[in-house]
Amino acid sequence: MTEKILCASMMCANYNHLENEVHSLENAGIDIFHCDVMDGSFVPNMAVSLQDIISIRQNTKKMVDCHLMIENPCEKVQWFIDAGCDLIYIHPESERFVSKTISLIHKAGRLAGLAINPDTSIDTVREMLGLVDYVLVMTVNPGFAGQKYLEFATEKIRKLIDLKSAYHYKIVIDGACSPERIENLSHMGADGFVLGTSALFGKEKSYQECIQELRG
Ligand code: DX5
Ligand code: ZN
Repeated sequence: MTEKILCASMMCANYNHLENEVHSLENAGIDIFHCDVMDGSFVPNMAVSLQDIISIRQNTKKMVDCHLMIENPCEKVQWFIDAGCDLIYIHPESERFVSKTISLIHKAGRLAGLAINPDTSIDTVREMLGLVDYVLVMTVNPGFAGQKYLEFATEKIRKLIDLKSAYHYKIVIDGACSPERIENLSHMGADGFVLGTSALFGKEKSYQECIQELRG
């Protein structure tokens, strides 16, 4: 079995103790700190600020990603490069010149990812699959933790797994990733998972126990 890439959804963390949260998650074996950036326009919520991302960056040597759920990421992507994000996801649905923004990210020496909404079809993004390092497949409509998994997204995950060998990206699943679903999707060939309320936060178990069980 291949190693799963486990990403902590930092919008679910306790911001009264952000530094402790980062250290506990790192000690528990998290691979990537996933920062959901919401502007209240592309999605009906606001979350993780630039300052929070900088604090997270200062407290870990592990990968930090930002998932930009914002309008026109092209205009703001430099902020996240300067904040030290290793991997930057943009949504093609909110970007007019997707390849231009991807190349900005690459020129800065960072990894680029394409985040796709549940109702965005593969045909819409096919040309961009060869340009990115990661594809983040949303299995809930972006904006909130604790939503129901959208079953129709599984077929798209399957198709993206089939296309992986031609394009060489990693597939990360975002939204309602429960332990059971992680097991199934990992067997199917998905590489990574964003862990929010379904598998990591607000549980009776410690982060360490949750991560150990997910690694199997
Ligand atoms: C939004 C977030 C979430 C969320 C995932 O992009 O990344 O989808 O926190 O966690 P769940 O759905 O398990 O609460
Ligand atoms: Zn996300």
